Amino acid sequence: MLFTNFLKTHQQLQNDKLLLLPKRQLVTYALYALIAVALLYLFVDPAAPAPSAPKPSSVAAPWVQEEEELLPPPSPSPPHQGDERCDYSDGEWVPDPRPPPYNGTACEAIKDGRSCMANGRADTGYLHWRWQPRRCGLPDFSPEAFLRWLGDRHMAFVGDSLARNQAESLVCLLSAWSPPELVHRDPEGRFRRWVFREHNATVSIFWSPFLVKGVEKSEHTGVRYNELFLDAFDERWMSQLGAIDAAVLSAGQWFRIPSIYHEGGGVVGCYGCAAELNHTETSFFAVFRDVVGRTLAEITRRHERGGGGDKPRLVALATFSPSHFEGEWNKGAPCTKKRPYRKGEKELGYTETEMRKIVVEAADEAGAAAAPAGLRFAALDVTTLANMRPDGHPGPYMRKNPFAAGEGRPVQNDCLHWCMPGPVDTFNQILQQTILR
Ligand SMILES: *[C@@H]1O[C@H](CO)[C@@H](O)[C@H](O)[C@H]1NC(C)=O
Ligand SMILES: *[C@@H]1O[C@H](CO)[C@@H](O)[C@H](O)[C@H]1NC(C)=O
Ligand SMILES: *[C@@H]1O[C@H](CO)[C@@H](O)[C@H](O)[C@H]1NC(C)=O
Repeated sequence: MLFTNFLKTHQQLQNDKLLLLPKRQLVTYALYALIAVALLYLFVDPAAPAPSAPKPSSVAAPWVQEEEELLPPPSPSPPHQGDERCDYSDGEWVPDPRPPPYNGTACEAIKDGRSCMANGRADTGYLHWRWQPRRCGLPDFSPEAFLRWLGDRHMAFVGDSLARNQAESLVCLLSAWSPPELVHRDPEGRFRRWVFREHNATVSIFWSPFLVKGVEKSEHTGVRYNELFLDAFDERWMSQLGAIDAAVLSAGQWFRIPSIYHEGGGVVGCYGCAAELNHTETSFFAVFRDVVGRTLAEITRRHERGGGGDKPRLVALATFSPSHFEGEWNKGAPCTKKRPYRKGEKELGYTETEMRKIVVEAADEAGAAAAPAGLRFAALDVTTLANMRPDGHPGPYMRKNPFAAGEGRPVQNDCLHWCMPGPVDTFNQILQQTILR
């Protein structure tokens, strides 16, 4: 339905202009329409009536991407004013006149879509805010201290494109102190690995949007729904756990897209496809909870089977990161805000609240169960602070010079990922405190 309406609108638009536009402009319009359709992949709104039969598209979602790794014990660190019991998730954004922690046009780890400055975003107000927790100080990110800790260790970001967004932010933050070397990259940039030679420190990215085994919805390969195998693990990263000292898991967005769920060799349910496929309609919240629980239990099991290794390990779970489309994202909705929300100005939506809670509770439960094994689980609770940053997304600047085609042309907006530098750097600031605790 959503697809159809959107296409109709665009077809109408094209028909209206048919006689006025030269062929080349028509092609441009068609491309925009396709790109916009591609956006649908990630942003199917779960609150909307379940689309009974999502229509195919031939373009892959632009943020479809991937790669691998874990964490640690308190190690010697410089004095900082962090407080062990501080709740970093509760606070507000306050103005900060200092320059951002790295040069957004110079950091090569940034995927083009997040390189807002290089893509032409001219306003800079979004760069000058810092997160102030309510009851305590959040120390600045220290690349020196982080690299000292990461020496001879491997930290892996596992999940979807927001995991990648955060990994790239970390590499850029660390670049301010020591140069990274990209030592591995698959053609699509879904699996990447950097080494900071001076410290023998490794940061990697593993694409695994469902954490468990799955196949992403993709029309050009004929996959009309996500296929999730709830009782099979994604060995692309799971098999690497022995070489990972700290892992940051970050997933959730892909669970909101129509999916078929498999278990024990059969289909056990689906989301957004019941009418067409006659499967039992299933809540994706329940599936997400199930998947996160199973994944953490398996990490614990493998950790114990491996004898715990010689290093304590950390698994941090990033909570859901809200998007800020003003209107229907599938109809080109932009994100036009130029400053953060004030405390209390914007409450969390239902989906964000539930997705966050699932991760926080899973981390607590796994943490209680795994603590004796030298394995630590911690929620990286960024949902609220991210929710208050409608100004930090690329919007049209996910592409270079988005308005080059002329004013009034349709542009694609990314109001989900984060510009870099930007709010996602704060995720890593809190990650550092999580490590040091
Ligand atoms: C950022 O890097 C670019 C080169 O990549 C350079 O031209 C620019 O001056 C740098 N900006 C700052 C503030 O250092
Ligand atoms: C470098 O770090 C890796 C972990 O990422 C470790 O396995 C390896 O032993 C380290 N190399 C040296 C020479 O310490
Ligand atoms: C849908 O599934 C139910 C239960 O498996 C079955 O009784 C029914 O005949 C199916 N309907 C169609 C149209 O296949």
